[in-house]
Parts: sequence; C-alpha cells; structure tokens
Amino acid sequence: MAERLKIAVFASGKGSNLESILNSIESCKIIHADIVCVISNNSNAGALEIAKQKNIPAVHINREQYLTDEEFNVALIKKLNEFAANFIVLAGYMKMLSSTIIRKYKNRIINIHPALLPKFGGKGMYGIHVHEAAIASGDKVSGATVHFVDEEYDHGSTIMQETVNIDTTETAGTLAAKILKIEHKIFPEVVRLFSEGKIYNEDGKVVICK
Ligand code: GRF
Repeated sequence: MAERLKIAVFASGKGSNLESILNSIESCKIIHADIVCVISNNSNAGALEIAKQKNIPAVHINREQYLTDEEFNVALIKKLNEFAANFIVLAGYMKMLSSTIIRKYKNRIINIHPALLPKFGGKGMYGIHVHEAAIASGDKVSGATVHFVDEEYDHGSTIMQETVNIDTTETAGTLAAKILKIEHKIFPEVVRLFSEGKIYNEDGKVVICK
C-alpha cells in the first residue's frame, strides 16, 4: 500500500471541490488520505470557512504579505512542511505555484479545470470565461479535466476527463453548473485512486490501475 496521502488543498474561491473531497473522506470512500491544511491567497475564500468548520488548519497566505517572491515561497514551503503535506490538490486556486514547489512535488500536484483540456485552458481561461469560450466555439460537448500540474497553466498530463453535452439553449451559467457537478464526481475519484497508489505518471503517460 502506498504511503498515506497528506493533502494540502489550495483554493481561492467557494470551495465546493474541497467539500466534495472532504465528503468522500468522511463517508469513507477515501480511506487512505487526510486533508492536512487548506491554503488560500484570498482571506474571504469560502474554502477557508469550510476548513475552519471542519477543524482543518486554514492558512491565508499571499504574495502581498511578503517583500519578494523568494520570501513568499520560503513561507509557503514552510507551511507545507509544518503540516507534512506530501500531496497538493489545486481546487480553484487562482495563482501559479512556484517552480520550486512544482519540482519538489513532481507528480504529486493535481488540478481540476472546467473544460476538456487542451481546449479552453491557459492564461485568462478561468471561471465563466471558460464556458463562454466553449459555447462560442460551437462545440457540442465540454466537460472537466483533472490533470497533473507542471510549470505551464493547464498543461500537465491529463488524468481523468468526463464530458457533458452543450445543449442548443445552453448559457455559460448553465454549462458551469453542469460541469461543476461532474467535477465533484471525478476529483474525489482521482484523489481516491492516488491514495490507493493506483495512478502513476510515467514520462507524461498516465497509467491508472483501477
Ligand atoms: C472549479 O470550476 C474548478 O474547475 C476551477 O475553479 C472552480 C472552483 O470551484 N479550477 P470551487 O471553489 O471548488 O467551488
């Protein structure tokens, strides 16, 4: 059995994906992982509130609190070490992690994106913009992607995707809601597979042993 996952969740917003992973842990769908801290750049993030309610350390830390990138990164790594995090889940985190952290946690950082990457990803593709672009493209399907994080936005190897139809009457808002629902399904599923040692990234080729 793989070592127990000690997950640091990074989130900037509402925290519904954080909640979906917590629910899977609480209902014992995931039994080999704990969320050891929730980290946010945004002091008003719903994710921090959720963490506090669950007695999970909630850390508000952002670049503006430090004089240099270097100092900020040292402080962030110190936090990850303090909670002995060995895995990072980006659940709506709106900032890029430093290359030091990305290298330190190679193949141990995952992100969720509300589109079928490589479509509608990259800089500027966040929130409602993603769904507006998907509808404007004329595509008949969109979906969600869980992927490894590397040093480019929305770029690392894909781990899992699920699709939804884009209906003729679809708006960006209805599409966002449909996709969020499947995010809450596939993100905890990927965390579970990781915690059971069933996902490997072999030079960009992702292997899942279900
Ligand atoms: C999700 O749509 C996710 O795909 C994106 O940010 C959003 C976060 O939502 N990366 P929530 O804060 O988990 O509700």
